[in-house]
Amino acid sequence: MNKKILTILLALMLAMSCVPAFAEDAVSSATVNVASFPAVAEHEDANVLVVYFSTDDTVKAVALTAAEALEADVFEIVPEQPYTDADLAYYTNCRADKEQNDRNARPAIAVWPESLEQYNVIFIGYPIWHGQAPKILYTLLEGVDVSGKTIVPFCTSASSGAGSSASNLEKVTDGASWLKAKRINNHSTAEQIRSWALTALAETAK
Ligand SMILES: Cc1cc2nc3c(=O)[nH]c(=O)nc-3n(C[C@H](O)[C@H](O)[C@H](O)COP(=O)(O)O)c2cc1C
Repeated sequence: MNKKILTILLALMLAMSCVPAFAEDAVSSATVNVASFPAVAEHEDANVLVVYFSTDDTVKAVALTAAEALEADVFEIVPEQPYTDADLAYYTNCRADKEQNDRNARPAIAVWPESLEQYNVIFIGYPIWHGQAPKILYTLLEGVDVSGKTIVPFCTSASSGAGSSASNLEKVTDGASWLKAKRINNHSTAEQIRSWALTALAETAK
C-alpha cells in the first residue's frame, strides 16, 4: 500500500475512534447558517449562555452543538472533585448514587462563572441521574442570580425522560422564567440539535 493511502486510512481510523458516533455527528457537521434561521431573526437581542455539566461527554456534545447554532457563550460546570468511573457506577452506592440520595448534597464547583449579568437566556444541560439533575446543578443555581432570565433546560439519559428534573431545579431559583425541559435523544443528529436549540430560543422571545 502506498504511503499516502496509508496516511489517509490512519487519519480516518483515528477520527472514527475518538468520539461516540452521536457526539461525532453532533460536533463535526457543517455550520448551520444561523442568520437565515427565523428563530434568530426573531430574537436578535438575545444574549445567550449555554451552561452544562457532563461526565461522559454526551451532554457536552449537545451543549457545544447548540452553542454554535445559538452563537452563545459556553460555561462548563466542573466539579472541584472530579468524578471517577467508580464514582459514576450507578446502583452500586457509588458517590453519585449517595449524592442523589442526599437532599443536602451540594458538590463543590471548581470555577464559578464570573458574571451572568449580560445574559438574558441561559440554556442549562445535564445528564439525568436517578430521574433528577445531578446535585452540582443545585450548587450552581443556589449560588448565582438568575432572576429576570429565561432558562432553557435540557438533558440526556440512557432512557428516562426529563421528568421533574427541571421543575425541581426551578424551585431553588427566584424570578426566572423556565421553559419545559427537553430530553435530547442520544441518536439525535447535529441538525436536529441545532433545530431544537433555535426553536427553543424563538420560544424565549414569546
Ligand atoms: C449516577 C447516575 C445515575 C443515572 N441515572 C439514570 C436514570 O435515572 N435514567 C437514565 O435513563 N439514565 C441514567 N443515567 C445515565 C445518564 O443519564 C446518561 O448516560 C447520560 O447521557 C450521561 O451524560 P454525560 O455523558 O454527559 O455525563 C445515570 C448515570 C449516572 C452516572
